[in-house]
Amino acid sequence: MKAVVLVGGFGSRLRPLTIDVPKQMIPVVGVTMLERVLCHLSNHGVDEAVLALGYLPDVFQEAFPSGESMGVKLCYSVENEPLDTAGAVRLAVDTANIDSTFLVVNGDILSSFDLSRLVKFHKKGGGLATIALTPVEDPSRFGVVVSDSKGRVHSFVEKPPVESAPTNLINAGAYVFEPEALTMAPVGQPISMERLVFPELARHRELFALEMPGYWIDAGTPASLLRVSLDILNRNVKGPDLSALRSATEMLDGSISINSLAFARDSYIGDGCVFEDDVDVRNSILESDVTICSKAIVRDSVILPGAVVGEGALVDSSIVGHGAVVPAGSTVLNGSVVSRYAELAPGCQVVGERMPS
Ligand code: GTP
Repeated sequence: MKAVVLVGGFGSRLRPLTIDVPKQMIPVVGVTMLERVLCHLSNHGVDEAVLALGYLPDVFQEAFPSGESMGVKLCYSVENEPLDTAGAVRLAVDTANIDSTFLVVNGDILSSFDLSRLVKFHKKGGGLATIALTPVEDPSRFGVVVSDSKGRVHSFVEKPPVESAPTNLINAGAYVFEPEALTMAPVGQPISMERLVFPELARHRELFALEMPGYWIDAGTPASLLRVSLDILNRNVKGPDLSALRSATEMLDGSISINSLAFARDSYIGDGCVFEDDVDVRNSILESDVTICSKAIVRDSVILPGAVVGEGALVDSSIVGHGAVVPAGSTVLNGSVVSRYAELAPGCQVVGERMPS
């Protein structure tokens, strides 16, 4: 089966981490977000994925020179201008000559959904498209999808107040499509799935939806990226796709002594990390080639490849970008994000901020 993976967005909510890397190429506990998505697809019978590229397409193409990842053959559909979600899928269908039922997933959503069940439900319903739904506590921040007992979609309600929301089920960013579902969308034009294609399919009674149980997260914000990373680390994520990937063997359970004085507890330590004496790392993810200088403390945080946490610095509940330097004596706290290759002033305090802002 083929799938289209939407990875062409600007990732503005994750800035400054996405200034020169697309969000799907950021590592999430040892493997990129995209590799986790591809592994999930592969587990559900996808053997070919079309990456719908827009923002920084070369980064993807260079990362997979063999044209394959996680057992999935890759094909690229490159947009010269952003085509929005439906326009991107339409171009991908054309580029890869997709001529049978296919999956579409947002490349920034990590889930343990049973996509095989979604495909089965789609085929049984006989519509042109089926949306996976996930429940949320507060539907007033989302658009909800209203469907009948057979799953046929009736309407979409944008940001309903909690008291009067007809349902708390939202579009989970995973779909099954028949190729004909998109014939209304001209190739090469920006078109929104949510605003145009889905309402039009619903009007023709061709759109179905299915609530999917399981883990689901939109990893497109700093808070959710930190959350999913820690969820994977702590194995709060059920399902084979997210928890079993590489990290299982590399995860450190309990405390380990790195050298005479340093220790890391309940953390993921990537290849090539360097620890000086007397460091204290807990419940954190240190991607490859990170350096933790003496007396530094790292808690509940993600440190991306090649970053340095300087002597006596404290990083807590934050993300430190690729190659960034947290100078000696600095503190980075409360959901802060330090940009790729940022060099902060020595001794600075960053509390709940994005640096540089
Ligand atoms: P923000 O700017 O932070 O909202 O992120 P985004 O630009 O990625 O937008 P959003 O998270 O809403 O997009 C959902 C999914 O669709 C993501 O996987 C995006 O990469 C993808 N996407 C959004 N717009 C486009 C587009 O114009 N073309 C393609 N190919 N993908 C897109």
